[in-house]
Amino acid sequence: MVKVAPSILSADFSRLGEEVQRLEKEGADWVHVDVMDGVFVPNITIGPSVVQALRPHTSLPFDVHLMITSPQRYVKQFARAGADYITIHVEATEDVRGTIDTIRSLGCRAGLSLNPETPFSAVEPYLEHIDLLLVMTVHPGFGGQSFMPVGLPKIAAARKYFDDNGIDAEIEVDGGINHDTGRQCVEAGATVLAAGSSLFKCSDMGAEMESWRTFRRKGLSSQHS
Ligand code: DX5
Ligand code: ZN
Repeated sequence: MVKVAPSILSADFSRLGEEVQRLEKEGADWVHVDVMDGVFVPNITIGPSVVQALRPHTSLPFDVHLMITSPQRYVKQFARAGADYITIHVEATEDVRGTIDTIRSLGCRAGLSLNPETPFSAVEPYLEHIDLLLVMTVHPGFGGQSFMPVGLPKIAAARKYFDDNGIDAEIEVDGGINHDTGRQCVEAGATVLAAGSSLFKCSDMGAEMESWRTFRRKGLSSQHS
C-alpha cells in the first residue's frame, strides 16, 4: 500500500502543533519534515527543537528530510528530537556511508536522497545499506514547484535494484507531487509520496490521500503491490 507523507513546509507555521494533529486526523501515514540550512539550499526552515516540540502532538512517524551540508553534525540531535526516518543528501557529505551507519546506530531508519541533476549511479553504492531512497523531482529548497520527470527512471532503477536484491526499502518521491504525478511515480515503483502544496491546498485532504493509496505499480495487481 502506498504511503502518503504530507510536508509541513506547506502548513501554517504559526500553529504547527495543530497542523500535525490535523494530518493524523486526515489519515496521513507519515509527517514529512523539511529541514533546510540556507547553505545546501537557498532557504532556512526547521531545526531539531521544532521537531522536538511537535513530537508530543502526533504518533505518526516523522520523516525528516535533511537538506543541509555535512548532515553528520546534526543527525544525533534530530534522532533525540524524535525523528523516525532521517534522510540525508548524497551531495551534502563526503561521508555518506558513515552518516547512514550513525543514523541507524541511533535507532532511526536511514534515508538517502538525490537531486534532479544527480545521476542514479551516485546512490547505487549505498542502496544495500539504506531503509529509504528519496528521489527529488524538484530542485530542493521550496514548495510549489513543478514536477520534473527526470526522477521517474531513477525510481524504476531503484525498484529493480531493491527487487533483484530482495531489499525491503522504501522509495519515496518528493517535489511537485499531485494526483497525476503521484500516480506516475507509484506506477514506476515509488512506495511513499511526499507532498506539500497540492495536499494543503486541497479542500478534502483525507479523501485525496485515500485516492493516492489506490495507485498501483505498473504490471502489478492490487494483491501484489
Ligand atoms: C522541497 C521539499 C519538499 C516540498 C515539496 O525542497 O523537499 O518536501 O515540501 O513541496 P511541493 O509538494 O509543494 O512540491
Ligand atoms: Zn522534502
